[in-house]
Amino acid sequence: MRVARRVTEVRAAVAVARGAGQNVGLVPTLGALHAGHFALMDCARCECQFVVVSIFVNPTQFGPGEDFERYPRPFERDLEACERQCVDLVFAPEAAEIYPEGFSTQVNVGALGSILEGKLRPTHFAGVCTVVLKLLNIVQPDMAYFGEKDYQQLVVVRRMVADLDLPVRIVAVPTVREADGLALSSRNAYLSGQERARALSLSRGLRAAAAAWEKGERDPTVLCQLVRKELEAAKVVIDYVAAVEAETLKPTAAGCRECVLLVAGRVGTTPLIDNLILGAKGVSE
Ligand code: PAJ
Repeated sequence: MRVARRVTEVRAAVAVARGAGQNVGLVPTLGALHAGHFALMDCARCECQFVVVSIFVNPTQFGPGEDFERYPRPFERDLEACERQCVDLVFAPEAAEIYPEGFSTQVNVGALGSILEGKLRPTHFAGVCTVVLKLLNIVQPDMAYFGEKDYQQLVVVRRMVADLDLPVRIVAVPTVREADGLALSSRNAYLSGQERARALSLSRGLRAAAAAWEKGERDPTVLCQLVRKELEAAKVVIDYVAAVEAETLKPTAAGCRECVLLVAGRVGTTPLIDNLILGAKGVSE
């Protein structure tokens, strides 16, 4: 496994792989790798002969007062994990390599980036899309892998790829959960034992709504209320609970045949998100 710090090193390594007729997969991450990231790497490993993982705590997607400084950076452990996952190349740039002096361009993601998570974090998706577009341009992969865990991010990235005619296939990977339902997240490391127990209300609420859906409940207000009830009982501060269409993220109409339930809340100072796709494949492949 090689570790590249510079864009030129990545380009050279990918050119060699391409020269050998290999197809290329990219898994972009912020690091602090866990089983959710490993699922993306496993998918990439299955489909691609040359697998690139980027590890970069992208400053532009963190808003003022968010956790950029305290975001975990267990770099050596991450490298060992990538090695175990049979990754071919890790791209771990310094911020100045991605955002050199004078950098000024940003991807404006439009309406999809200013609702839900984008309403709470107005600069977030511009930061995500700008860095993802740069990583796609640097690596030029055939496939890039994203988790359903960050559902809006997946939709926004797919939109960007379609709108800007990027020659890459975005592959969605289902959310990996702990045995008790908690969706894996690097931010779970911030939770105390008691907070973790309260955080379980997100997945519990989604499961309650899924059970109602199975029994035929199709009213989005009722489904969202079932989620809210669990969050309120656990004293989780609710940022939003929404039932949306899989691709447009517009509120679903009553009686819909499929929808995605999105939930965001805070336990103490830790922001948590989760979601569940009901009734269809959503944007998964
Ligand atoms: P990060 O939070 O490190 O996540 C990297 C990728 O792993 C994302 O596609 C995310 O959806 C996926 N992922 C995280 N937890 C998961 C879980 N429990 N199950 C399945 N997939 C999971 O998302 C980012 O980084 C950044 O915004 C990034 C795309 C790298 C741009 O900076």
